[in-house]
Amino acid sequence: MTDRIVVTGGAGYIGSHVSVSLLEAGKALLVIDDFSNSCPEALRRIEEIANAKIEFLKADLANPALAEKITETVRRFRPSGAVHLAGLKAVGESVEEPARYYRVNLNSALTLVAALEAAGAKRLVFSSSATVYGDRSQSPVSESAALGPTNPYGRTKFFIEEMLRDIARADPEWKIANLRYFNPVGAHASGRIGEDPNGVPNNLFPFIAQVAVGRRDKLKVFGGDYPTRDGTGVRDYIHVSDLARGHLAALDYLAREKSPGVIDVNLGTGRGYSVLEAVAAFKRASNRDIPYEIAPRRDGDVAEIYADAALAERLFGWKAEKSIEEMCADTWRWQSANPDGYGR
Ligand code: UD1
Repeated sequence: MTDRIVVTGGAGYIGSHVSVSLLEAGKALLVIDDFSNSCPEALRRIEEIANAKIEFLKADLANPALAEKITETVRRFRPSGAVHLAGLKAVGESVEEPARYYRVNLNSALTLVAALEAAGAKRLVFSSSATVYGDRSQSPVSESAALGPTNPYGRTKFFIEEMLRDIARADPEWKIANLRYFNPVGAHASGRIGEDPNGVPNNLFPFIAQVAVGRRDKLKVFGGDYPTRDGTGVRDYIHVSDLARGHLAALDYLAREKSPGVIDVNLGTGRGYSVLEAVAAFKRASNRDIPYEIAPRRDGDVAEIYADAALAERLFGWKAEKSIEEMCADTWRWQSANPDGYGR
């Protein structure tokens, strides 16, 4: 029997790659998205890559007026579980509009939980973030490290994790995986789907890609005096297709295990690259110049963070496989074939 999964935020950057992975594994999907940071063209391309159809509901999960319709649609879809990726994700914006971040991210999660309960599908993979660890943890960071997010966006992820822990404690039928992503980059190898941020990119890879393609003059490297090997920040970049496979592995784990309750699992590669190493790798992959200048540190940044990725391998039998070269080559294939993203 076909396994049926709800994917919220399924048209977004990570969601589109998760959707492809799940479709290719033979699952049927109901995608719920409001296109606030994505578009219908992404859905069309997911279907084209996977050669499969998606059921779709355009809805803002945080809108209370839509809760009933969402529950009804989920119930009728008869899912076995969900992957929850919908949410706001810009750190700077979350500092300026904290109430909106809490309202949208927390309400969306709660609406989905209610819909899954109504559908009798108490299995959930939640898109959390390594940002829940805050800035005091020593790398490699394992799941048992102290939590302490440093901004409202990170706290929404942390609070949702906590809510899910309470929900699973109260009802042992729930099986939940909080997946703590490190830095997702890259694009599908076809070059047809990828990251298409609204406005000026906040994150390193989309910014580098837009410099390489000539959309921006130069990269500002935030901080050249960190206590790292070349003075620039070190992160654990993970190819988005590896990350997508990690969701499939997590769903299968939850289906297989009798009573995992809630598990918290890092999805990273276990190795860090500096900003300058990432720039050098992108330069090689794209054969373009990437002009940059060292700029002041960005508020809230840590010097270095990378994952202890052992638990995902032990529980799910999953590990990241793609190299930084593939991350750069695939980002570049997407960016150069789609210089204006989806043209939204
Ligand atoms: C950021 C968020 C994190 C979120 C993640 C989602 C912040 C402080 N953190 O992580 O909460 O979960 O994105 O993808 O925003 N860099 C530059 N120049 C740039 C952009 C970035 O030098 O124009 C540097 C940063 O200082 C950092 C590295 O590149 O050392 C990676 O930055 P970024 O891609 O924004 O990711 P994080 O900050 O790790």
